[in-house]
Amino acid sequence: MPATSMDQLVSLCKRRGFIFQSADIYGGLQGVYDFGPLGVELKNNLKAAWWRAMVYERDDIEGLDAAILTHRKVLQYSGHEATFTDPLTDCKKCKNRFRADHIKDGKCPECGSTDLTEPRQFNLMFKTTVGPVEGGDNFAYLRPETAQAIFTQFKNVIDATARKAPFGIAQIGKSFRNEITPRNFIFRVREFEQMELEFFVKPGTDMEWLESWKENRLNWWVEQGLNRDKINVHKIAPADLAHYSKATYDLEYEFPHGLEELEGIADRTDYDLGNHTRYQKDLNISAHVHDNKDSSAKLALFDDETKKWYVPFVVEPSAGVERGVLAVLTEAYTEEPLPNGETRTVLKLKKHLAPVKVAVIPLKRNNPEIMKMAHEIKATLLKTGIGRVMLEDSGNIGKAYRRHDEIGTPVCVTIDFDSIEKQPASVTIRNRDTMAQERVNVADLPAYLKSFFLEK
Ligand code: GLY
Repeated sequence: MPATSMDQLVSLCKRRGFIFQSADIYGGLQGVYDFGPLGVELKNNLKAAWWRAMVYERDDIEGLDAAILTHRKVLQYSGHEATFTDPLTDCKKCKNRFRADHIKDGKCPECGSTDLTEPRQFNLMFKTTVGPVEGGDNFAYLRPETAQAIFTQFKNVIDATARKAPFGIAQIGKSFRNEITPRNFIFRVREFEQMELEFFVKPGTDMEWLESWKENRLNWWVEQGLNRDKINVHKIAPADLAHYSKATYDLEYEFPHGLEELEGIADRTDYDLGNHTRYQKDLNISAHVHDNKDSSAKLALFDDETKKWYVPFVVEPSAGVERGVLAVLTEAYTEEPLPNGETRTVLKLKKHLAPVKVAVIPLKRNNPEIMKMAHEIKATLLKTGIGRVMLEDSGNIGKAYRRHDEIGTPVCVTIDFDSIEKQPASVTIRNRDTMAQERVNVADLPAYLKSFFLEK
């Protein structure tokens, strides 16, 4: 099967209501996308799978949902104000602007001119006015990563939960970056969501934890349906590390536009907690951490063995939700030849990610008895907790199957004349991947589907 193209995904996403360009009716806001009726379900399912794996299935991680608006000092001491930049260059001929590190052969990607300005550093953070008076210092940043609030709330979380290292704080939420050239659909965007874990460990154990989190995250992506062979583990060269990192692995995925970062797993040392901690001599903070007289906090843990305070190191697996959605869509998108010569498009999403779990399809929408049974079955299945069950009463069974193949619905349940005329009442179940159909008694349906959705 040929590799999935970006055009195929963009077209499916718009046609079936996964993802739309933001402000489409006004020509679109560049680098900003809205998730439609099915996109929001898929995105929520991916986030729920991450939260479950991070918070519910472990006993050493707590959650957080912090504000997006971020105090300037947080991003001064984190280093973002000074260093969260990309090199920007202008084409003097066509006046377009580009990331200097994305330019090939010294030529403008738009018009081919070589008359480009010297690159200058462009800060990627968005600012917004806070309060009714504009100007001066009345601004906050829209956070460029969710991580910083995990560091600034470290002491509050510790005090509330009495945790000792190793332990982590997980967060999912929006982040904003004023990308110079957003591109590749939802891959590089200006508003996006992150799933970030900050895992605090004793200094000296950090490199082991880095390895262990790299393996953990790799396995998790495979559980979301990604082919292991399409994921590349890339160790970042020292010269390319982010300003806070001592070592980083990128998990790169073969997206339609090429092999690019899906998730980064970084050893951030004590850089962040140290920088947000009021400087004190007795804390063994690393030399690269700055003196902080603005903070009132001691973001440190007490070591019961040495009877000393120490600033823990942190290992951070940080994944982009939109990139995750793009990866699972890329992997799931399939065009299959049918025996009649036609081609069917089917999204072979993992069951737990499918936006709709079961489509209940009444064969005749103007038959009150069939409709009554369809409504009852939907209500019963909903109570099983398997997820979204949809009544699909478009009235055309062939079209309904095609639509649900395309949006990745694992099971269709069809109610026909036999369902209402014969006893015991039964329905037809159609499997998305095999297209196999079988007859199941209505009374057995909840247990049947519950066990179907429990299987991986
Ligand atoms: N917190 C890491 C990142 O946003 O890239």
